[in-house]
Order: sequence, then structure tokens, then C-alpha cells
Amino acid sequence: MKRLVLAGSVGLALACASVSGLATGGPVLEAHGAAVGQETTSTLLDGVFTSAQARRGRRVYSENCASCHGAELKGGEMAPGIAGSDFMVFWTELPVGSMFERIKVSMPEDGPGRLTDEEYTDVLAYILDANSYPAGETELPADKAELDKIMIVAAE
Ligand code: HEC
Repeated sequence: MKRLVLAGSVGLALACASVSGLATGGPVLEAHGAAVGQETTSTLLDGVFTSAQARRGRRVYSENCASCHGAELKGGEMAPGIAGSDFMVFWTELPVGSMFERIKVSMPEDGPGRLTDEEYTDVLAYILDANSYPAGETELPADKAELDKIMIVAAE
């Protein structure tokens, strides 16, 4: 999955460069750099969810996820762990929107898509909190396009 997303953005970058190269013959790299900069505007280290949101997400998690992933998110016989560096390393440098989408289309495994976007977003905030990312002043938005602007990076 990671490969797919990366290949996609490389393709886009190449298309971008050749189109703007044709159009202007000018400072292609500069224009391209600006476009890429607009895609993600923050990272998980910027405090992109609130503590209150993570607490709401904890409730969603206990009711819909803990039976398989465990109260401590460590996984069990039924499912893999979703806390700890092995889990986060896989997602590094992908947008938070990808993680949101992945959870929404496949989880809870016994009824994918049955939660609201707000509940999926809150549970995402809880997972990030449990993975030691910092809380901040603004809630994680329940909107895939907005979540795509936030880059997943390793926790400090
Ligand atoms: C009925 C058991 C079950 C429930 C309930 C469940 N999961 Fe899962 N989950 C799984 C299994 C099994 C996998 C591994 C197979 C897969 O990736 O689809 C998984 C995989 C995942 C992954 C990907 C892990 C990785 O290493 O990439 C995430 C994230 C996740 N679940 C989140 C959730 C969240 C959030 C909830 C609650 C909204 C939830 N799951 C509820 C069984 C469950």
C-alpha cells in the first residue's frame, strides 16, 4: 500500500514538472516545490488533535475495537497491535487521511464503516495519543481532504 501511494505521487510530480516545463520553460523546480509544499501543511508533531478528542476516541475504541486489538492496543489472538513503533513506522510519511481511510473501509473488522466519520476521527486521535504524539489546541477534522494535509512522522 505504501508503495502504491509513493508511486502515485512520483508520477504526479513528473507529470507536474513536464507540464509546467512545457508551459513556461521557466523555473520548473521552484514551481513544483511550491505545489508539493501545499499538499501537507503540518505533521503529527504539531499537536493536531485535542486531549478531549482523544478521550472521546477512547470510548469509541473500548466499545468497537478493544475486543480484538486489546485494551492497551497491543493486539492479541484476534488482531495485530496498533501501538508502538512497528505499527507507526509502516505509516511514516503517509498522510493521516490514508490511515483514516484504511480504518474506515476495513474496521471494525466485524462491521466496517459502521461508525460515523466523527467517531473514526476521534478513535484516530486516541490511537495517536496512545502512540505518544502531542495533543494541541485544535481537533483533528473529520474530513479526509483536511486529514491528507497532515503528514505522519515518527514520534519524538
Ligand atoms: C473483530 C475484530 C476486530 C475489530 C473489532 C477491530 N479490528 Fe482492527 N484489525 C483486525 C484484524 C484481524 C486486523 C488485521 C487484518 C487487516 O489488516 O485487515 C486489523 C487491522 C487493523 C489496523 C491495521 C494494523 C496494521 O498493522 O496496519 C488498524 C489501524 C485497525 N485494525 C484499527 C481498528 C480500529 C480503530 C478498530 C475500531 C474502530 C478496529 N480495528 C476494530 C481485527 C479487528
